[in-house]
Amino acid sequence: MDLLIIGGTRFVGRHLVEAALARGDRVTLFNRGQSVSPLAPQPAGVTLLRGDRQGDLSAIAEGRWDAVIDCCAYLPADADRMARCLANRVGRYALISSVSAYASAALPNAEDAALGQIDDTDTTVVDGRTYGPLKALCEAAVVKHMGPARSLLIRPGLVVGPYDPTQRFTWWPARLARAAVDGLPVLAPGDAKRPLQFIDARDLAAFVLLALETGASGAFNAAAPPGFTTMGNLLQACADAAGAAPWLHWMADADLLAQGVRPWIDLPLWLPADGEQAAFMAVRTDRALELGLKVRPLADTVAATLAWWRALPPEAQLFNLAGLSAEREAGLLSSSGSFS
Ligand SMILES: NC(=O)c1ccc[n+]([C@@H]2O[C@H](COP(=O)([O-])OP(=O)(O)OC[C@H]3O[C@@H](n4cnc5c(N)ncnc54)[C@H](OP(=O)(O)O)[C@@H]3O)[C@@H](O)[C@H]2O)c1
Repeated sequence: MDLLIIGGTRFVGRHLVEAALARGDRVTLFNRGQSVSPLAPQPAGVTLLRGDRQGDLSAIAEGRWDAVIDCCAYLPADADRMARCLANRVGRYALISSVSAYASAALPNAEDAALGQIDDTDTTVVDGRTYGPLKALCEAAVVKHMGPARSLLIRPGLVVGPYDPTQRFTWWPARLARAAVDGLPVLAPGDAKRPLQFIDARDLAAFVLLALETGASGAFNAAAPPGFTTMGNLLQACADAAGAAPWLHWMADADLLAQGVRPWIDLPLWLPADGEQAAFMAVRTDRALELGLKVRPLADTVAATLAWWRALPPEAQLFNLAGLSAEREAGLLSSSGSFS
């Protein structure tokens, strides 16, 4: 395929580029050139077009592609502008949306579940309140210009693996690697049996390309099947990868919340069992699996993430976006009477 990727230089987009080149697709990237890092040089063999989706689109004002993959649409006006610009010159439009687009995550969502809504649809603030509903509006903008048959709306769950800038999933392989060295207890959140669901960015990239190639359209939740793994299995896989035999100290949701520990951020992937997000990691994935979504083993994702993180320079290995500081974690363990 002849592919145009809007973005393509940070995380999901980088995996898309690597997967597309490995398949023999021709790849053109459109971005501002701000996210390219010496740590992550662009693979050879791509055509680079510079511009800003919120400003100068002249670099993509001409040209035709079999498909565009839009990795960085967060505002409906931006999705609308890009889809309008390309509608007559691309065969298909794949939008990287999110499972956050659904109105509620209290119960498991299939693709036909209600989408989120907000009153201030022209806001430019992307935050916890607006991110999901704005993604839903981005989807609508793409469908408006492309028509349903040429629109592919990919709704990933939590995306994990190498190049992940969010530090969320990466925190666990790195945390267990620290335990392998210092032998200190590890604070494990909630319940070892609580189900987790996410998608390796490499599996996501392969799925997007498969869906484009097969002419699929409409919305697809893109995640490992519900119940793919549990918090306990994740921590064990991380311990195995790091060669650790840690003492996992499990703390209940209520105790963590009472101590002011923030779900998802302070202890990544931890969502309290009865919270508003209880089914965030339990979306239905039948549609993607039927089309051919392949999900690699957890051990592969953990090992690749750990290897990538270990290869980063020391300053880039620090966790300043997610995870507890060592001091805070020790304090929580100490206050629970389990560690001093
Ligand atoms: N991470 C998750 O768990 C998760 C879960 C669900 C959905 N998603 C979705 O997955 C996508 C992830 O993005 P990613 O960062 O991994 O993709 P990416 O394509 O690897 O990186 C973002 C790209 O967008 C470009 N960009 C940003 N602003 C731009 C602008 N104004 N004009 C042109 N290019 C621009 C950046 O390059 P420059 O800065 O150089 O312009 C960069 O190449 C997002 O749509 C997100 O909503 C993520």
